[in-house]
Amino acid sequence: MTSPLVQTLLQKNAPQQPPVWIMRQAGRYLPEYLKVRAEAGSFMNLCRNPALAAEVTLQPLRRFNLDAAIIFSDILMIPYGLGQHVTFVEGEGPKLSRLDHPNDFHFLKPLKTAQALQPVYDALGLVKEKLSENKSLIGFAGAPWTVATYMIEGGSSRTFEKTKAFVAAFPEGMQTLMDILVEATAAHLLAQIQAGADVVQLFDSWAGALTGDDFARWVIAPNKAIIARVKQAAPHVPVIGFPRKARGADLTHYCVQTGIDGVGIDEDLSPAEACALVPPSITLQGNISPQVLVAGGAALEQAIDACLEGFKGRSHIFNLGHGVVPQTPPDNVAALVARVKFS
Ligand code: CP3
Repeated sequence: MTSPLVQTLLQKNAPQQPPVWIMRQAGRYLPEYLKVRAEAGSFMNLCRNPALAAEVTLQPLRRFNLDAAIIFSDILMIPYGLGQHVTFVEGEGPKLSRLDHPNDFHFLKPLKTAQALQPVYDALGLVKEKLSENKSLIGFAGAPWTVATYMIEGGSSRTFEKTKAFVAAFPEGMQTLMDILVEATAAHLLAQIQAGADVVQLFDSWAGALTGDDFARWVIAPNKAIIARVKQAAPHVPVIGFPRKARGADLTHYCVQTGIDGVGIDEDLSPAEACALVPPSITLQGNISPQVLVAGGAALEQAIDACLEGFKGRSHIFNLGHGVVPQTPPDNVAALVARVKFS
């Protein structure tokens, strides 16, 4: 039996009721997550512990009637797998040993990826055993541009100054880093598919920091190269792209050129604009505001109805425009899923 999420992505016809899942659906807004997170000691320990990672992956599905589980892991597992030092500092976010110069790439060890990331594949296997057939299991990775920003900045950034300076000073070095990340990411997605992922998503959370030729080179080209490798080995597995905040012709070119089956739409693009920019052969995913999910009540109900109406007639997966935030009341998530399911 094919799950509703896979069916929607493969068939392209508008479903009666869109399948629903939520980006970052496992996480700090759930008290049961916080309990397991405390038991694990650190976020990285949780990512590297297959039994605990599988447990937190399944937690949101016990509470809510979601159509998919997304494996609990992080986009920074690839830099970790390549041998970069990665930690998460409480209240501050990720900290990575910085890459300042292409000479620093010697420290990266491409061949180690599969071994270092084995706990992720083991966790997928454990989730797959417990997931019912009508639910999809989503594997994921960060896209190269977004992952490179963390590797070069040494953590989160709003302006990407160091990354942009690195690209200006060492364009060939940046290309080398992209090539390393394309290989590692394709291998990581294929290993997740082998371990049981039914669908994979590529998160390019900072795609919107680039436009035009830069967007084509650092967003479209690497996503396209990864998807070509995935499709060659696993042609039946749908790929969702998420070039967050991509706009206008950049978004259209991304959809037409990369080979994706579905595209994530952020909350600042209206469904009407998204429908105009994305060809009908591609499933649209999104796009409720995470802040409206925090607010709940009538504002949330109106936003859900407008979203359903806005994507009506198109192949659509219901989701947020970005990840759920820690202050979200779990009851609002329950209300969202119920409203989509009874629409
Ligand atoms: O969706 C899911 O439920 C699966 C798990 C998942 C996590 N991170 C768990 C996580 C996924 C899909 C991600 C993706 C991710 N990670 C992205 C892309 C999506 C996006 O939100 O833009 C990015 C940019 C990261 C990098 C990252 N991880 C940052 C910047 C941070 C710190 C900020 C924060 O939200 O805490 C993380 C940590 C992280 N990843 C947490 C979770 C549940 C919180 C860590 C904790 O429990 O202490």
